[in-house]
Amino acid sequence: MRDWPGKRLAGGVNFLRGRGRRFERALEKIERLAEFANSGDVDLVVFSGDFTAMGTRAEFAAARAAIHPFVTSPAEFICVAGNHDLYTRRVVRERRFEKTFDGLLGTDLPDYRVDGAWPTVRTLGNDVAVIALNSAKPNPVPWRSSGRVPGPQLEALRAILGRPEVEGRFVFIVTHYAPCLADGRPDTPLHGLENAAELLQACAGTERGAILCGHVHETFRVRLPDVGPEIFCAGSATMHELEGFWMYDVNGGSLSARRGRWTGGGYQLASAETSSPCAAGAPE
Ligand SMILES: [Fe+2]
Repeated sequence: MRDWPGKRLAGGVNFLRGRGRRFERALEKIERLAEFANSGDVDLVVFSGDFTAMGTRAEFAAARAAIHPFVTSPAEFICVAGNHDLYTRRVVRERRFEKTFDGLLGTDLPDYRVDGAWPTVRTLGNDVAVIALNSAKPNPVPWRSSGRVPGPQLEALRAILGRPEVEGRFVFIVTHYAPCLADGRPDTPLHGLENAAELLQACAGTERGAILCGHVHETFRVRLPDVGPEIFCAGSATMHELEGFWMYDVNGGSLSARRGRWTGGGYQLASAETSSPCAAGAPE
């Protein structure tokens, strides 16, 4: 209860008034999702943030327990924090996210870290690299939930994309905040990524890549004009009636993606590739 004044009081009221009920079966759903990670067909699991609602210690402990089947699975594990995980300045000061995911935030290029664990870089096999950025921050004003990729991380991203360990691979760039909505338009200033244009510009020249994000509770993929990587928003894996995720397959440098849906008792993958609409003005 010591955590409740200010921002958290507003968030707590919101949570108790209904949002929490939409996550009632979250633990069961996470267990079902972990079956994919343990199937032997998955090399990497990416969580794009918002493990908690208000970043309390109890929530982080529950989240760490819930993801245990992913951590012990044969698949690699990469995650970024969501704005709910960095809900207050105190949560950030106490490094609750970093402590919860201790041992899971390793990077292959430690010299490029400019902001705690970020960017985190991993290479997988001979053809995939993952660059994870932190775009979440506390928003003390209750009605604001925007994010930003700090300038030094963007600079590091540009440098990493040019590294020989990364160049030539298919690159997944992971961030919590979506650089655009499903129709390609920017999110609102109060909810979106404040410097989305800068992130997109940093990634634009990457021909073989994808930007993976969350925050927007809608599972979508979209291609923007003049931006090499396609954008995939996971949506929410566990929120009632909005459940979704993506399964990616990188083959010979090209990507195919199938959408996952909740069927009421488990998750099911679309049998075929879920195609990408082009945002207005995008070349066909
Ligand atoms: Fe979020």
